[in-house]
Amino acid sequence: MKQLLIAVFLIVVIITLIVVAFTASQALNEEQRLESDLQYRSKLLADSLKETVEPQFINKSQYQLQYLVSKFEDKERLVGLNIYDNKAIPVATSSSLTSEIPKAKQIAADAMDQDQATGDFINLNNKKIYLLAAPLHDKDSVVGALMIAQNAGYIDTRIAEIWKNNLVRLFVQASLLSLATLVLIRWLIYAPIKNLVESLKFARSGGEESNSKKPTNSLFFRPLVNEITNIRRSLQEARSSASEEAKLRLEKLDSPWTSLRLKEFIKDILKGRTVYMVSNREPYIHIKNGGKISFYTPASGMVTAIEPVMQACEGTWIAYGSGNGDKLMVNRKNQVKVPPDEPKYTLKRVWLTEEEEKGYYDGFSNEGLWPLCHIAHNRPIFRKEDWDQYQIANQKFADAVISEIKNQERPIVLIQDFHLALLPRMIKAQKPSAVIGLFWHIPWPNAESFSICPWKKEILDGMLGADLLGFHTQLHCNNFIETVGREIESLIDLEQSTISKGNHTSYIKSFPISIAFPNGYHGLKNYDYSAEGKKLLNNLKIRSQFIGVGVDRLDYTKGILERFKAIEIFLDKYPLYKGKFTFIQVAAPSRTKVKKYKEFAEEVRKEAERVNSSFKENGWKPIVLLERHHSHEEVQTIYKLADLCLVTSLHDGMNLVAKEYVAARDDEKGVLILSQYTGASRELKDAIIVNPYNAEQTANAIREALEMTPKEQTKRIRDMREIIKNNNVYRWSAQLLKTMAGLG
Ligand code: G6P
Repeated sequence: MKQLLIAVFLIVVIITLIVVAFTASQALNEEQRLESDLQYRSKLLADSLKETVEPQFINKSQYQLQYLVSKFEDKERLVGLNIYDNKAIPVATSSSLTSEIPKAKQIAADAMDQDQATGDFINLNNKKIYLLAAPLHDKDSVVGALMIAQNAGYIDTRIAEIWKNNLVRLFVQASLLSLATLVLIRWLIYAPIKNLVESLKFARSGGEESNSKKPTNSLFFRPLVNEITNIRRSLQEARSSASEEAKLRLEKLDSPWTSLRLKEFIKDILKGRTVYMVSNREPYIHIKNGGKISFYTPASGMVTAIEPVMQACEGTWIAYGSGNGDKLMVNRKNQVKVPPDEPKYTLKRVWLTEEEEKGYYDGFSNEGLWPLCHIAHNRPIFRKEDWDQYQIANQKFADAVISEIKNQERPIVLIQDFHLALLPRMIKAQKPSAVIGLFWHIPWPNAESFSICPWKKEILDGMLGADLLGFHTQLHCNNFIETVGREIESLIDLEQSTISKGNHTSYIKSFPISIAFPNGYHGLKNYDYSAEGKKLLNNLKIRSQFIGVGVDRLDYTKGILERFKAIEIFLDKYPLYKGKFTFIQVAAPSRTKVKKYKEFAEEVRKEAERVNSSFKENGWKPIVLLERHHSHEEVQTIYKLADLCLVTSLHDGMNLVAKEYVAARDDEKGVLILSQYTGASRELKDAIIVNPYNAEQTANAIREALEMTPKEQTKRIRDMREIIKNNNVYRWSAQLLKTMAGLG
């Protein structure tokens, strides 16, 4: 649009310049023509009058002269006459010329001196007048002068007319041309190109041919349209043969799960039923900055896992719209197609008030349930007003889900995490035919720890509205079953792993979540990770031989302080590594409005500073703290250059950073040091497993990692990559959805 306006503006400027130049030249020519015509006519008149005036002048008949002058006064363009003696003193004067005109005397004197007619234009009482003086003779000498005054105002009127006419013409021309340009660009160029881009996008995202828009039939673009039609056809052929292959692979369960295989699988088991994903955090956050809207993907293990699944199954994701640009991007039903660059599924946004966000998210979810479920020695805070907002917000999500599924026969609703514990019951109450799953992404504590929650019964009851309750590990399932047994009247079947309350049964099952490896890990085309890595180290002035990395949200459960302590002990114990080892801590700001998180971020900064100040020398320091949001590519770049990755969570449901680091190492190098309190440690047994509270042990693990032979590194990373590949997030969701589909 901006370009269009610039084009129109340029056209208007060019036309204006042309018209102004042309009009100026036309006006000048016309002015010259009219002036010389007036001069010529004045001369003719003077010559004819001279014959009458000269005899009277010689006879010195002043009366006759005055009579003559008065007779020719105000005749058409003739303003009047003056007759001068040889000293240029008026002898007879028309009444319209009586006032003193200094220029007139001069003109008369010049005419007598040169003995020839002389004229000039003057301004008299705001009127343009042409004065012409002709010498009067007796027999052989000049005796006086006759002056004719002609009205020349019509010349200016004519010139003004020319300007006016041409400017009106300019306005009409410029408007018509601008309109024509707009129409030409908008309909003949912009619209067909937009149509072509959309048709390519549609083909790329695998839409059905019958649903696609017809490509433009503009003559101008025909060769391009033909070419694009061929590309679309080839893409469709490639896609359908890949789909055939995926179908075949469905039978062979030992082949890895991919996005395409999941898509086929979902078609097969859900038979047209749509998947509705529900979570607090949205996968794409739109941000308004000045007049521009951009988006980013938040640092969230839940988003990392669920996003690729949604891309594969093309359902609807319902989440809280937390970005300040979010409202500008949605349609009337609060929906927007995402990913923004290559739309594949629908994101429906739910809006929360500031008060709701404060009570439901900052308060009850993050100050209450989060510390309650993580054994990180942080006291949970339970406030009645937060609990009230938690219920209100859950009801809002429930209403949003119901508005989407009300006309569906047996919709599949998969709810994510601790923010929405009441949702299963709320939805079930309004739509009993919905099959509801709730996946709990964080640990479930033991029954005794959970019992301190003032609204434990309501939370457990809300969760038991789900048909399937998923946790990362069997231990968390066992803890949950034990908690329900202790708090709620229900029937527990340990063999089947079910809990029945009233006439509804919930299945409790572990599904260890994962990442989209291998097919989500090809990296960006044209993105040179090695060159970007060098650039990054250069920018950070890191010249160390060995690099360690930690990638976390700034959260007290992640063991960041314990990690820094271990680095301090490591450098004290093995001083050879001073100046040779740098640890890059990528820290994404998280839950910044919550007091504990603010305090924790400050503590992390101080601790990094303390460790750095006791070791730094010659421009080297052991810890580089990067406290900001990093893009997927930036994080991948850092993973790829790090000799080791430290994951030292004090308690973590799964921890996908551990899996992402291993997945990023396609060079089969690098060592993972992993906390025994993460769900991931149950699967990634080739990591060096540590107790993060034991800083000595972690320090020794750092040394072991840096001194591990390349052969050993390769063996371990290769084995872990194989495990992640076989247990990726596509398999996770396939198993989850298959279980749900079997429940109703
Ligand atoms: C944990 C939770 C996720 C959550 C993530 C980020 O991993 O299990 O559900 O998305 O933290 O937290 P945030 O509060 O930023 O969504």
